[in-house]
Amino acid sequence: MLVLGIETSCDETGVALYDGRRGLLGHAVHSQARLHAAYGGVVPELASRDHIRRLLPLTRGLLDQTGCAPDALSAVAYAEGPGLAGALLVGASVAHGLAYALGVPAMGLHHLEAHLLSPLLSSPAPAFPFVALLVSGGHTQLMRVGGVGDYVLLGETLDDAAGEAFDKCAKLLGLDYPGGPALAQLAQRGVPGRFRLPRPMLASGTLDFSFSGLKTAVLTTIRERPLDDADKANLAAEVEAAIVEVLAAKALAAVRQEGLARLVVAGGVGANLTLRARLGEGARRQGIAVFYPELEFCTDNGAMIAFAAAMRLERPLPVAPHASLGFTVRPRWNLEEADATN
Ligand code: KG4
Ligand code: ZN
Repeated sequence: MLVLGIETSCDETGVALYDGRRGLLGHAVHSQARLHAAYGGVVPELASRDHIRRLLPLTRGLLDQTGCAPDALSAVAYAEGPGLAGALLVGASVAHGLAYALGVPAMGLHHLEAHLLSPLLSSPAPAFPFVALLVSGGHTQLMRVGGVGDYVLLGETLDDAAGEAFDKCAKLLGLDYPGGPALAQLAQRGVPGRFRLPRPMLASGTLDFSFSGLKTAVLTTIRERPLDDADKANLAAEVEAAIVEVLAAKALAAVRQEGLARLVVAGGVGANLTLRARLGEGARRQGIAVFYPELEFCTDNGAMIAFAAAMRLERPLPVAPHASLGFTVRPRWNLEEADATN
């Protein structure tokens, strides 16, 4: 079984080839971060146009590099949602065109399912069941994962996603988009606690999050007095500490609540080293194991799409029939309903 995976839900064009027996044969990602940097955020129409430019050359390059002939493919998988409608349509159109020409199925995958299964690409892979903390620029959710296709939402953000909070606070500190990694880097030179920011919903007694108040608190701090470089580093460290403290506390609470011993962290914010250190300490005390995808699979990529598709084909789980040439994308899509809607 050889699956081509295509990811175009936001600002990364990703492609990958996953073989049921040999594993991941290769993958390639083109990040549009520089294209959007000038605007301080992703511009949906520019994202769609760049996916159009990049996707076919990236796919051709991957097939050449891995020595795979297109007619060896058994399925073409793509991120069907959630994400930017125009960006998703590019991946969906190419996947359906290719699949139709090759006479193989096109499979629409849930982007978040692909994220939360991505740690299974590494070894040792976590066994089911586990709790997954999904933390990206668009999503912050805690899920109980009983198996492939078995997802229960335990809690989620009521407003901004954790990555969005990183990015918005970074912008206020004058850092370039996407600011999460830049803020984390600046935070290394600062000391948390010199400024004091709220830990939103830390004591709410639920597994839900709220991060929109943080950027307001940062804005208020910045307006109080001019900040020098040392102040900015201290403020960055406090922003990071506030986000990380809430994420770690709720993720560990979710594992306790579910009576499980494994936590999987997926999505771009999972690359944050302070979050990893904090979860590591808590997990040791709680006697649980924490699993991360490889760094290159933390952010959006095609490998996680190809892999999730292969997992579904193996079981086999529902695959959208797509007998006709018609298809749609799902810019908003609840993961718990992934199978029901397929
Ligand atoms: O999963 P991802 O690549 O894309 C989405 O689906 O959103 O996540 C991107 C998000 C951005 O908000 C980015 O700033 C954040 O992940 N991010 C980080 C770090 N690396 C990426 N946030 C904090 N620290 C990092 N090291
Ligand atoms: Zn993502």
